[in-house]
Amino acid sequence: MNVDPAQIEDAARVLSRGELVGMPTETVYGLAADAANPEAVARVFAAKGRPQFNPLISHVADPDMAMREGVLDGRALALAEAFWPGPLTLVVPVAETGLSSELARAGLSTIGLRVPRHPIAQALLRAHGGPVSAPSANPSGKLSPTAAEDVRTGLGDSVSVVLDGGASEAGIESTIIGVIPDEPARLLRTGAISRGDIEALVGPLTSPRPDKITAPGQLTSHYAPRAAVRLNAIEARAGEVLLAFGPGAPSAAANLSLSADTVEAAANLYRMLRELDAQGAEGIAVMPIPETGLGEAINDRLNRAAAARGDR
Ligand code: TXA
Ligand code: MG
Repeated sequence: MNVDPAQIEDAARVLSRGELVGMPTETVYGLAADAANPEAVARVFAAKGRPQFNPLISHVADPDMAMREGVLDGRALALAEAFWPGPLTLVVPVAETGLSSELARAGLSTIGLRVPRHPIAQALLRAHGGPVSAPSANPSGKLSPTAAEDVRTGLGDSVSVVLDGGASEAGIESTIIGVIPDEPARLLRTGAISRGDIEALVGPLTSPRPDKITAPGQLTSHYAPRAAVRLNAIEARAGEVLLAFGPGAPSAAANLSLSADTVEAAANLYRMLRELDAQGAEGIAVMPIPETGLGEAINDRLNRAAAARGDR
C-alpha cells in the first residue's frame, strides 16, 4: 500500500479545520474527525444521521497516545500488546490527560480506544498528532463501507476527502472489549478478533452490563441492506438471491468462503451483501455460518441485518 505524504498532509489539514475525512482502516472505512473538537464530532453524527449522540471510538497512532486518553490496567495492557496495532477496541476509564471531547465519548466516564494498523490510518493519525473519532463511514443503520467508493456513495459531500486504501482487509468492525477495574472483562461487540483469541489472554469474557446505553451497533436492526435478509437458508426462493457459504453450495451463487473459512467470509460479508443488494432482488437468502472463529461476529451482523426494521 503506497502512502502519499502530500495526500496525508492535506487530509490532516482537513481534520484540523474541523471537517471530515474518509479513512481506510483494516476493518472498515471510518468517518474521521478531530476528536478534540466537539463541532467536528457533531458533524460526524449529522453526516451519519445517527439518531442520538453515541460514544465514538478514539483512534490513535500508538499505545503511548492511547495511554494519554485512557487508563489501561494490566489486562488492557496485555490485550494492547497482543493486538495493537490492529482490530481491537478497548473501552477503559478516561484519563485526566485525555484530549477527546466529552461529545466524542457521549459524556461517559469511559472511552473507546483503538490503534489501527492500516498504513494510511497510521500515517494520518501520526500527522494529526491527536485522537481521531471514527465511526464506520456509512449512514446510520446501513452496511459498513469496505471500499473508498462506498464512502462517497453513502455520505456524499459531507466528507471533504476520502483516502483510498483499497479493499478493507478484515471487512468487519473491530472487536470491542470493556476493561474497567474491579469488573470482569466484557465482550461489548464481536468483531475481527475472535472471542477465543481474546479469552486466551484474559480468561472468559462476560456480557455487556444490562443497564448499559444502547450503542447503534447493538440495535436489533443495523448493518442492513435494502433487500430483506433470510438466514439459515438452504437455497434461494422466488425473488431471492443466494449468499452461500462453504464447498457444498450451488456454484453460481456468491460465496462468502468456498473453503468455509470464517476470516475470508468476514472480509467478503459487507461487499457481497452490497453487490447482491445492487442486483435488485427482493431478498437475500444466506446459508448457515458456524459460530466458530469469526462466525460469531458474522452471525451477529447477519442477525441484525435480518431483524425487523423500524427500531433504528
Ligand atoms: O472497526 C471499527 O471499530 C470501526 C473502524 C472505523 O475503526 N469503527 C467503528 O466505530 O465501528 P462505530 O462508531 O461504528 O462503533 C463504535 C462503538 C459504539 O457503537 C459503542 O458500541 C462502542 O464503540 N463504544 C465506544 N465508546 C464506548 C464507551 N465509552 N462505552 C461503551 N461502548 C463504547
Ligand atoms: Mg458502525
